[in-house]
Amino acid sequence: MSVVVLISGRGSNMEALLDAGLPVSAVISNMPAAAGLAIAARRRIPNRIVSHKDFVSRDSFEHALAEAIDAYAPRLVALAGFMRVLTPEFVERYPDRLLNIHPSLLPAFPGLNTHERALAEGVKVHGCSVHFVTADLDHGPIVAQAALPVRREDSAESLARRVLKLEHVVYPRAARWFLDGKLVIRRGAVSVKGNDAQLVFDDSP
Ligand code: GRF
Repeated sequence: MSVVVLISGRGSNMEALLDAGLPVSAVISNMPAAAGLAIAARRRIPNRIVSHKDFVSRDSFEHALAEAIDAYAPRLVALAGFMRVLTPEFVERYPDRLLNIHPSLLPAFPGLNTHERALAEGVKVHGCSVHFVTADLDHGPIVAQAALPVRREDSAESLARRVLKLEHVVYPRAARWFLDGKLVIRRGAVSVKGNDAQLVFDDSP
């Protein structure tokens, strides 16, 4: 019942999964310099690099990535700031067991620079989403979301900081639900057995 976490950088969501006591069996990064690798090493979590730059094609990279993942036979594959777009073939290898954390209230603002775009649109509520990964980028069934009010004085940086705190709450919660077999996907929508609280509000002053 283990989790393999895929990262590309800082690794704070990965660390939140570890802090929550989730059974992470390995951390894999496509970026050799990812700071998260050192965190994993310090915490004695097996960690590996599968650098996309070492492969001539996306297919051969994904093949190696899948081999590295499958060596741990995880129940769940959790993307945590993993910055490579995955092909439909890869996604289909892990049906309904590939989760991602995205820094916006999906389906608003898929893709990059979510905080800048949220500010530019003048949205009043912003947040993050944990969703199942499908071939459609940032559009899979939503497991849980966390939201906060956008403040007049917010910058993209302050919003990113505030939303990240919520990410660290909501991702471990969603991953735990998954491992406990509580997530039900029906017609593209997720419900949690015995739990209606799939939305967390930030009510800090
Ligand atoms: C997070 O904001 C996550 O939502 C996004 O990339 C960022 C990764 O941060 N996908 P970290 O590496 O988990 O600290």
